[in-house]
Amino acid sequence: MNQNQDKIPVGVVGSGAMGTGIAQVAATAGHEVMIFDNSTESITRSSESLKKVFNRLVEKGKVSQADADTILGRISYCNNLEELSSAKLVIEAIVENIEAKKALFSHLEVIVDDDAILATNTSSLSIASICAACSKPHRVLGIHFFNPAPLMPLVEIVSGVQTSGETLVEARNLVDSWGKTTVTAKDTPGFIVNRVARPFYGEALRILEEGIADAPTIDWAVKEIGKFRMGPFELMDYIGNDVNYAVTESVFEAFFYDPRYKPSFTQKRMVEAGWLGRKTKRGYYNYAEGAVNPEPTKDEKLGQEIVNRILLMLINEAVDALYLNISTRDGIDLAMTKGVNYPTGLLKWADKLGVQTVLKGLQELHELYGEDRYRPSVLLKKMAKENARFYTENVLEN
Ligand SMILES: NC(=O)c1ccc[n+]([C@@H]2O[C@H](COP(=O)([O-])OP(=O)(O)OC[C@H]3O[C@@H](n4cnc5c(N)ncnc54)[C@H](O)[C@@H]3O)[C@@H](O)[C@H]2O)c1
Repeated sequence: MNQNQDKIPVGVVGSGAMGTGIAQVAATAGHEVMIFDNSTESITRSSESLKKVFNRLVEKGKVSQADADTILGRISYCNNLEELSSAKLVIEAIVENIEAKKALFSHLEVIVDDDAILATNTSSLSIASICAACSKPHRVLGIHFFNPAPLMPLVEIVSGVQTSGETLVEARNLVDSWGKTTVTAKDTPGFIVNRVARPFYGEALRILEEGIADAPTIDWAVKEIGKFRMGPFELMDYIGNDVNYAVTESVFEAFFYDPRYKPSFTQKRMVEAGWLGRKTKRGYYNYAEGAVNPEPTKDEKLGQEIVNRILLMLINEAVDALYLNISTRDGIDLAMTKGVNYPTGLLKWADKLGVQTVLKGLQELHELYGEDRYRPSVLLKKMAKENARFYTENVLEN
């Protein structure tokens, strides 16, 4: 791919939620986009939803009618993969299934030119295994958008062991030029965000299971005291308990059953009961019309304890991700603020609390429960010994 060739044609495979959003982002940035899907219904849905999105943007005055028409005019659909032959970047967003993705990539690589980049939007599969389906794996990588792609600024860029440095740089420059915040992540389960965020749900579920507080109280504490935009239970209900459970289960398995990522029976039972959240009108909350949900217990002391415990676990995960070179300090902090709207980067938060305080809190939990789930990261221990900080500059006031 020639870097100077500004608006290269882009291909998108899969016209579901992610493919449609990614196509919108690329077309808005000026690229001609061809979307392939093997389901005509999905293509129809995608095209209708894009029209609706742009109608709304025009109504709100965010885009002029002329610009909306131009952007929509750049997006075409096809039901034959061969029509992606001129694309210089293809982003795959099909079903999360390794065999389906491998079959697609091995077909795709003979259709496009040798200098085209092939990317996957997978959330949980290994990039190395997708690269391995191709005879030219050096031009294959992960470009992981967040949902909804047009609104969420973060994009994780993930190289497989086979991916060339040139492919990484070209793909990153291109996505940067679309106005996204890119961070590079190591090809490990959950990359940055889906790994570091696990305790947000897992520890909240544990607090609920132990009867320390109910879901509305935990959500209240996390929002009011922790300043997170959503509480863990309302967020799980929003994502879908089935989807959230599947991610937790796959991360647990992918980490060779590390107890830190152990799924919760509470969540499993919710899935088994069909209480999937908003989409079934019943989850941790009742979404039926006229339903009255319990009020939180607004006890400041209890709320602070809840936030501290979840936060300690999140910080430990972020520190461990840094220790294991999943990304850089800035990459990890940016990922959590731009990918899941955390109020502050977790490593910055560790500095605010003090590394020694964080370690002490984790050690107390570890001692009390005797579970490996609460083991502090080696990096945290090393830093506490040296009374070190993550940020040396005076950045904590920001
Ligand atoms: N939904 C999210 O929150 C999210 C966030 C980040 C990444 N992802 C990842 O993005 C990918 C797509 O997710 P989604 O939520 O858009 O799924 P989706 O189910 O909404 O859409 C998938 C689309 O792919 C099509 N498809 C399936 N197999 C195909 C094939 N072999 N060839 C062509 N088209 C095929 C389907 O018809 C469907 O239109 C997955 O890998 C997922 O893990 C999802």
